[in-house]
Amino acid sequence: MAQKDSEEAVSTAYYLMGDEETSRDEIIDRFSQNSQRYDKIMEAVNHMSPTLTAQTTAELFPSNRKDVYILDVAAGTGLCAEKLYSHGFQKMDALEPSNRMLDEAMKKGLYGRYFIEALGESALNIANDTYDAVTISAMSSMVLIKLPKEAFEELIRIVKPGGFVINTAFSNVLSDGGDANAVLLRENMKTLEDQGKWKHVELKHFPHVVLGNNMSVSVHKVLT
Ligand SMILES: C[S@@+](CC[C@H](N)C(=O)[O-])C[C@H]1O[C@@H](n2cnc3c(N)ncnc32)[C@H](O)[C@@H]1O
Repeated sequence: MAQKDSEEAVSTAYYLMGDEETSRDEIIDRFSQNSQRYDKIMEAVNHMSPTLTAQTTAELFPSNRKDVYILDVAAGTGLCAEKLYSHGFQKMDALEPSNRMLDEAMKKGLYGRYFIEALGESALNIANDTYDAVTISAMSSMVLIKLPKEAFEELIRIVKPGGFVINTAFSNVLSDGGDANAVLLRENMKTLEDQGKWKHVELKHFPHVVLGNNMSVSVHKVLT
């Protein structure tokens, strides 16, 4: 890739991330506007999150992967589904608020159902104990850190007891550091553990992965 294209990809990636001032609707709109070139931009910035998410999911389900039912939250254009599919997972649904990102995902034909919804907005129109796992690959940090505790309660509700929530994001969101919102997010996740709703079973660190940022993969096992 020419240096100019590479620099443009990096600046678009930062634009997509937004900052503290960027509203959730604005972030979704930015993804919609860039949906058709999203995959190329992510390739240029070495977007490793789908690979890391799928690898961890594969480790959690060493056999019968074709029967494992997964909801991919913040599915985007389906990059995580592509990686999951390469590990043998075949039953996957997508939840994503940008219909233009989902249009791109649909072209790949990897998901069964498509929910055009934002996590954290309201109750999901999904029955209790539907999925064996939820994957969340690189949900926009500015959205993730502001998710209410109810958003995770919804994920716990739709995942079967014994199933997993696999969440990949910047380490300063999932692991340590970050701003007051990130601290509150981690506290909320811990409160759900203290309430016996899920158990934090894994936290893996990957230094300097995307644009020099450390990434973490966090796994919770659903108990109720
Ligand atoms: C960086 S992309 C990640 C897409 C894909 N998972 C990947 O790894 O390539 C972040 C996605 O999060 C979506 N998103 C933003 N707010 C969301 C919310 N509240 N619930 C679910 N997805 C959301 C955006 O529309 C965008 O498609």
